[in-house]
Amino acid sequence: MSLRHPPEQIRIQLGARSYPILLGEGLLGAPDSWQELLPDASAALIVSNTTVAPLYADALRQELSGRFRSIDLIELPDGEQYKNWETLNRIFDRLIGMHGDRSTVLFALGGGVVGDMTGFAAASYMRGIPFVQVPTTLLAQVDSSVGGKTGINHPRGKNMIGAFYQPHLVLCDLATLQTLPDRELSAGLAEIIKYGPIYDLAFFDWVEANIDRLTARDPAALAHAVKRSCEIKAEVVGLDEREGGVRAILNFGHTFGHAIEAGLGYGKWLHGEAVGCGMVMAARLSAEVCGLDAGFVRRVEELIRRAGLPVRGPALEVDRYLELMRSDKKAQAGEIRFVMVDRPGSAVTRTAPEDVVRQVIADCRIAEVA
Ligand code: NAD
Ligand code: GLY
Repeated sequence: MSLRHPPEQIRIQLGARSYPILLGEGLLGAPDSWQELLPDASAALIVSNTTVAPLYADALRQELSGRFRSIDLIELPDGEQYKNWETLNRIFDRLIGMHGDRSTVLFALGGGVVGDMTGFAAASYMRGIPFVQVPTTLLAQVDSSVGGKTGINHPRGKNMIGAFYQPHLVLCDLATLQTLPDRELSAGLAEIIKYGPIYDLAFFDWVEANIDRLTARDPAALAHAVKRSCEIKAEVVGLDEREGGVRAILNFGHTFGHAIEAGLGYGKWLHGEAVGCGMVMAARLSAEVCGLDAGFVRRVEELIRRAGLPVRGPALEVDRYLELMRSDKKAQAGEIRFVMVDRPGSAVTRTAPEDVVRQVIADCRIAEVA
């Protein structure tokens, strides 16, 4: 099958580790547009989960047949709570069981959980084998499949164990978004909303004006939002692959959000929900510490609410939030560093007085802890 329009292509410029992101409606069914970009490998392992594999694995396997000597499939359990060592080991077990070698390529077919674990498996199996991201959630298409952060969670800290390891190719089929549950669509919108306040005010204005089209899954609106998000992420990652500096701004809302995820237990709140609420907290902190305009803070909060995301945090103790945030990867010598918006469309990473952080959390939680 051929596409109605040729796929959009965005390139991540990282020297020898550069790679394309292909975007298109029905891309998975149009291998002519991407087959020649596949890595030179003889065997393939599709890594997916019990929800996504029944929807898309057969189609992918069919498009890959003829290109690889063998194509295996592993279905992992579905959920953030399975983004851990035990599940990762199942990928290694399968690779060893199928005699996978350095000419085996992994395909991550699913959302960010599958993508992060598959990428980490690819980074570490035989010290590195190629992998292709095939993101099927909005969140994975606009954020997690791009940029090479891979890894798993630790019970005490989100994404604490992992590696920077770039994929060979990212294949974003926008048609897969039509089977996504509403709650997951909203979670992806959180990461789209993120790019505006930190980097591109015009994109923030556009998302604000088009949020109803996005929640209604208007294909043209989703295509624009995914494309612009990938462009921004490609620019930032191209400047700072290993988060020595500017890449940290992509963690806007994540310091609070990761504390929510770990504090409640992984899987209770979706990652995007925690980030959405975390951005409300981070925007308020930005007003207190950087003097961000209160009107803009209200616009951010209202947009997050309209995206169907929570704007009030769970009733964890404030001390518990702080304890969890101290193990954030941006913390230095136990001092928490926050991404803050210093003016609309621009962000910085800096510390904040503890009493101000405590007040912001207390103001943004659902209720007092009994
Ligand atoms: P997810 O991977 O858990 O997927 C969400 C749910 O949607 C799952 O139940 C999944 O089975 C289902 N699903 C996936 N595609 C579907 C489809 N097309 N139709 C129907 N159901 C579908 O969650 P996510 O939001 O995609 O990713 C969150 C993860 O990504 C977190 O672990 C987070 O830490 C990570 N992340 C990583 C990066 C990075 O740079 N590596 C960036 C952001 C987030
Ligand atoms: N999601 C943050 C990053 O990729 O840096």
